[in-house]
Amino acid sequence: MAKEKEKEVTVTDLPGVGVATADKLSAAGYDDLLSIAVSSIGQLTDAAGVSEAVARKMIQSARENLNMGFQTGIEVLKKRDLVQKFSTGCPTFDQMMGGGFETGAIVECFGQYGSGKTQIGHLMAVSIQKMDPEAVAVYIDTESTFRPERIAQFARGLEIDPEKALNNIKVAKAYNSDHQMILAEKVEDLIKDGNKVRLVIVDSLTAHFRAEFIGRGTLAERQQKINKHMRTLAQIADKYNICIYVTNQVMAKPDSFFGDPTEAIGGNIVGHNSTFRIYLRRGKKNSRVAKLIDSPNLPDSECAFNITETCLEDI
Ligand code: GTP
Ligand code: MG
Repeated sequence: MAKEKEKEVTVTDLPGVGVATADKLSAAGYDDLLSIAVSSIGQLTDAAGVSEAVARKMIQSARENLNMGFQTGIEVLKKRDLVQKFSTGCPTFDQMMGGGFETGAIVECFGQYGSGKTQIGHLMAVSIQKMDPEAVAVYIDTESTFRPERIAQFARGLEIDPEKALNNIKVAKAYNSDHQMILAEKVEDLIKDGNKVRLVIVDSLTAHFRAEFIGRGTLAERQQKINKHMRTLAQIADKYNICIYVTNQVMAKPDSFFGDPTEAIGGNIVGHNSTFRIYLRRGKKNSRVAKLIDSPNLPDSECAFNITETCLEDI
């Protein structure tokens, strides 16, 4: 985290890229060296209206200036040592997660309405402060379901001063998907302003996208935007060792005869960008069942718990 590069080459430093071209590139989603390095000449001429020769030079230069990011296994291991875990407060849930939610990772929770995705977001916004008293949680609220009262209740459960807990949570309402994407990009500004951001919650990740991009013809564009949004989140997770918690709804699977008749919105794009995927559903007697279904280093498993006023409790 500390060893920022001395002078980072940006898109405007590439040959042939002035402010106007940079703006056009950025509008088309080419706002970092990597996106340019992996694009084709045709894509860049289309996006920025530059000549083929200029596009070729831009790509070449982006590739040369890009730290392609090879690290030794030892370096990766050292980075893994920085990973911290913070508790759900529920022993079986923690056990399923290998000790709690991880920093430096994206945790996706998907499930039907009322399954508890938002409750977990609120709880973890407080729990991160138990792990680190100075930690700041960012809550990007897309459905106006952030409730300070719930934060205060979970804070009491964790024996943290509710007012202090609320002070260390920065909430922003996202009014549409573009706004949501911009807010994710602004997290870096909060960090540069001195906030010790350790958790970013996006609740819900997919609702705006789902509402705005309706019909088959818009699916590709929707997926592209969700992908870009998640790439932004993954970058801040990695760069600043932050946990990203995103919630996601499910929809009916039209062609299912066996097993669960629902699937997560956003499909592969969201799944592939998430480090941990948790499927949440209601169980017997108003309990909840969480199932870890995709983790790089943990077995798939399940746990059951109750949501109470102040915590998640084992059954
Ligand atoms: P959507 O956002 O609609 O997709 O649902 P969600 O998965 O975010 O559901 P949410 O986390 O909002 O869960 C709502 C449920 O949590 C309620 O139906 C209650 O069962 C439970 N819950 C919420 N607040 C409390 C509380 O103060 N005490 C208890 N015991 N349960 C609560
Ligand atoms: Mg919710």
